Amino acid sequence: MRIAILISGRGSNMTKLIDSCKEDIQSSTIELVFSNSSEAKGLEFAKKENIPTEIIDHKKFKTREEFDNKLHRKLKKYEIDFICNAGFMRILSKEFVEKWFNKQINIHPSILPAFKGLDIHKRIIDSNVQVSGCTVHLVRAGVDEGPIIGQLSTYIDSTYDEKKLANKILELEHKLYPTCLKLFSEELIKVEGDNIKYSREALIELEKIQNNNLN
Ligand code: GRF
Repeated sequence: MRIAILISGRGSNMTKLIDSCKEDIQSSTIELVFSNSSEAKGLEFAKKENIPTEIIDHKKFKTREEFDNKLHRKLKKYEIDFICNAGFMRILSKEFVEKWFNKQINIHPSILPAFKGLDIHKRIIDSNVQVSGCTVHLVRAGVDEGPIIGQLSTYIDSTYDEKKLANKILELEHKLYPTCLKLFSEELIKVEGDNIKYSREALIELEKIQNNNLN
């Protein structure tokens, strides 16, 4: 797969996807890192890795659709066939999502469908839930909706504050996202409409990262 990673900021998940495509995932290459902000820190890492970067400032567009069309054309120019959203802070229009149906995945720092939206870590700490985690899912038109591909979880004890939780969840994200991309890329999971079909190998891989999670 020729992959584009969409970012808006730090890009730590992006670096993990880039590294895993170099080292581990033979069937995919990262062909583009795209950001809606020139300030996105992740762009520097991508440049160092000699991966093409493109920036389109969404503030210059009157409508969401205009921005999304421009983004779509850019992705076509690079002959992209799969998109990984990694901290991309834009809601995508229904039209865009449909053009990339089952060809776009996202990572979210909670066990979806719980805690959609923003300000997740604070809301989780405030709610006193005992378990949280992260989710990789296919992108659909609703925010943080779409068939779930993989999840990793952790217990939250009384020593956790927002910062500790954010660090722990990011650690889990860095394991989950490359694993899910690999399973997708190597066709160890298949998507039929809204259904995810796991091969035995895929389930073993996902169990492995869940069980290696304690330190
Ligand atoms: C991650 O927590 C991700 O789940 C969320 O935004 C954050 C991006 O972090 N969608 P980074 O830019 O990958 O470091």
